[in-house]
Formats: sequence, C-alpha cells, structure tokens
Amino acid sequence: MSNVKLAVVFYSMGGTNYQMAKWAEEGAKEAGAEVKVLKVEELAPQSSIEANEAWKATVDATKDVPVATSADIEWADAIIFSIPTRFGNMPSQMKQFLDMQGGLWANGKTVNKVVSGMTSAQNPHGGQEATMLSLYTSMMHWGAIIASPGYTDPVLFGAGGNPYGTSVTVDQDGKMVEDVESAVKHQAKRTVTVADWVKKGNQ
Ligand SMILES: Cc1cc2nc3c(=O)[nH]c(=O)nc-3n(C[C@H](O)[C@H](O)[C@H](O)COP(=O)(O)O)c2cc1C
Repeated sequence: MSNVKLAVVFYSMGGTNYQMAKWAEEGAKEAGAEVKVLKVEELAPQSSIEANEAWKATVDATKDVPVATSADIEWADAIIFSIPTRFGNMPSQMKQFLDMQGGLWANGKTVNKVVSGMTSAQNPHGGQEATMLSLYTSMMHWGAIIASPGYTDPVLFGAGGNPYGTSVTVDQDGKMVEDVESAVKHQAKRTVTVADWVKKGNQ
C-alpha cells in the first residue's frame, strides 16, 4: 500500500465536481493514499449565488469542506483537480487558486507533484479537453508530472473515453449523463500509483 498524500482540489457550482472529488477520494483511499478533499475559495458575489438554487445548495453542501491553501499543496505528493468547464476553460476560482501559488512555485515546491484533472460540461463536445489543457498548461509551468488517464483501463470507455481526464456531461437539470464513478476511481488510483513510483524513486 502506498503512503502517498493526495489533495483533491475542486470547484463546483452545481455539485457535479464535488461528487467527482468524493469519488476520487474513495478510489485513492482504496489505493492506500491519505486524502484531503478541498474546495477553492468562492469569488462570485453573494447576490449571484443567492439567485441560483443549485448554486446555493452546493455552497451549503460544501460549507464544512476546508478551503485549499498553499500548505495543502506543499503537503501533497499528488493533486487531482476537479473543475467545471467555463467557456472551454477552467473557472476563475480555480485560476485564482493556482495564481496564488506563485510563492510555492518560486521556491520549487510545485516540482514533481503528480497531477491529473477531471471536468464536466453541459454539452458532450462543450470544451472538456480544452479545460483540461488550460489546467495542464499551468501544471507544466509548475514542473508537475501529469498522470492523465489515457486509455489505461476499459472502464474509461464507458465514461466517454476522455484520455485527458475523466469528464462527464451534465444535463439541463444538473444531473450527470454518463456513469463516471468507476472512471474517476480508476483515475484516482492511477494518480496515486504514479505518485508512489515517483516518491519511491526519489528516496
Ligand atoms: C459561465 C459558464 C460557462 C459555461 N461554459 C460551458 C462551456 O463552455 N461548455 C459547456 O458544455 N458547458 C458550459 N457550462 C456548463 C458547466 O460546465 C456545467 O454547468 C458544469 O460543468 C457543472 O459542474 P458543477 O455541477 O460542478 O458546477 C458553463 C456554465 C457556466 C455557468
């Protein structure tokens, strides 16, 4: 069993990415990892949240989830990011979190983190891969090691077969269309496994 420390860092407005983060936690724990599930800080005005029932419900459901900090990133051997697609990009809340890690980056503390990303979008071709690439661009600057799922397990095909990172389509009611639970768990295990190899090779 690994002794990998994994941070699952998410942003979610409608609950999808929170659920994916929890599945990732389960998968990583099955692989023996120590896991922290963390949200990024909300930046939207309270009035916008109040005007949207689903958003309000997610804020309430995640009120006890700790907000991710630089200390969490420093602590983690591996990080899984889960983010909704926003105009084919990551949400500004996650970008702000990444941008706040300049101090860690400047001190070489983001190097060799093993990372992967997951996403959701309303349309089957709504920009999922572009969202993952926006995340991975920053990860390359971090010197992180991207452990994308590729096609490393047949379970990924049933989840839409996105090799960049597990992605799910969300319908008009905010419900997930594909069953991605197993793919998320596989991705989490793979990220933890690769982090374990890196950690052992570095000792
Ligand atoms: C401002 C905004 C931009 C969005 N952009 C896209 C998009 O480019 N493509 C798409 O398919 N869905 C888009 N969506 C839908 C979201 O991706 C979808 O609601 C989200 O993935 C659900 O995840 P969550 O429940 O974790 O918030 C957008 C939603 C918002 C609010």
